[in-house]
Amino acid sequence: MQQQLANIVSEASSAAPAIKTRPEFEVFKAGLVGSKGSMTAVMKLMGSIPKEEKPAMGKLINEAKQKLEAIFAETLARIEDAELAAKLGEPIDPSLPSPDDFAGMRHPLSQIREEVCGIFHRLGFTIAEGPELETEWFCFDALNTPANHPARDMQDTLFLPADTKATDAPKKADEAYLLRSHTSSVQIRTMLSRKPPIRIVAPGRCFRRDTVDATHSANFHQIEGLWIDKNVTLKDLKSVLDSFVREVFGNAAETRLRPSFFPFTEPSFEMDIRVPNMGALSNRWLEIMGCGLVDPKVLENVGLDANEWSGLAFGMGIERIAMLVHGIDDIRHFYANDLRFLRQFA
Ligand code: DAH
Repeated sequence: MQQQLANIVSEASSAAPAIKTRPEFEVFKAGLVGSKGSMTAVMKLMGSIPKEEKPAMGKLINEAKQKLEAIFAETLARIEDAELAAKLGEPIDPSLPSPDDFAGMRHPLSQIREEVCGIFHRLGFTIAEGPELETEWFCFDALNTPANHPARDMQDTLFLPADTKATDAPKKADEAYLLRSHTSSVQIRTMLSRKPPIRIVAPGRCFRRDTVDATHSANFHQIEGLWIDKNVTLKDLKSVLDSFVREVFGNAAETRLRPSFFPFTEPSFEMDIRVPNMGALSNRWLEIMGCGLVDPKVLENVGLDANEWSGLAFGMGIERIAMLVHGIDDIRHFYANDLRFLRQFA
């Protein structure tokens, strides 16, 4: 009987590799453990053997059964793999990358922010930051923006409820918090926290009570620039901004400084660019940022002697630059999280 069991197992194990289909497998399995199977026949003999031999025989039968189960499992797994491979047409190489795998990418606004900050970094500017929740003094007063300026109107700027009075406002008691309407407040924070010479760019999020349309968003991003030193002149302003424009828009880009007004610069300008190869926007003057020489009143507001120090400042919208660089016609694309849009910048 022991010999019989050994034969059953060894025959099963040599027959198994030839089994290729499920019906073949079922016949094979029934021939061993089905009601007329060879293994079943041996098990039936258990009834007729002497009592004292039963435990030893039972053990041998169990071992043989386990070996057969292992052969069945292995054979079935092989058949199932072959069925799946046949269904997929080709053998599977699980180490290949998925054809629609998308590794991810920087958002186009982050890309432009990094590019612009990188250009100014090479021109000697470091990165500065300020809070998005500002006080009126940092956002307006210190920037020489008078109480009756329209930006200070509740209708134009997002103020926090009147009972959230700023506790860290160093200059004015009892002033309100607001969501900063521009990054120019970082100019003030930087000049108060370190001594000149100063050369910083400050990227960050800004907020305005704008009605959202193709060119306006209540939430947008700016990059502010500030350079405070002795004898900073308009020539410095023009050369710094010209280098920046050429790096972003190419050497063929022309620039012009168009007189304008900002309370914190004197004189003030809008910088326009004209680029020959920019699709529908080619060869047209396009406004890209505000800039100017720092108004002496601003220097005085932060305790700098305007006879000793001078400065230049500029501020640009990151969305605006990204729209020009990529020919995007609607600012809302940046915030819609539509991968069909975003993947174009991967
Ligand atoms: N803060 C201005 C705005 O949001 C932009 C600006 C203009 C910033 C002139 C400057 C500047 O630093 O000198 O419209």
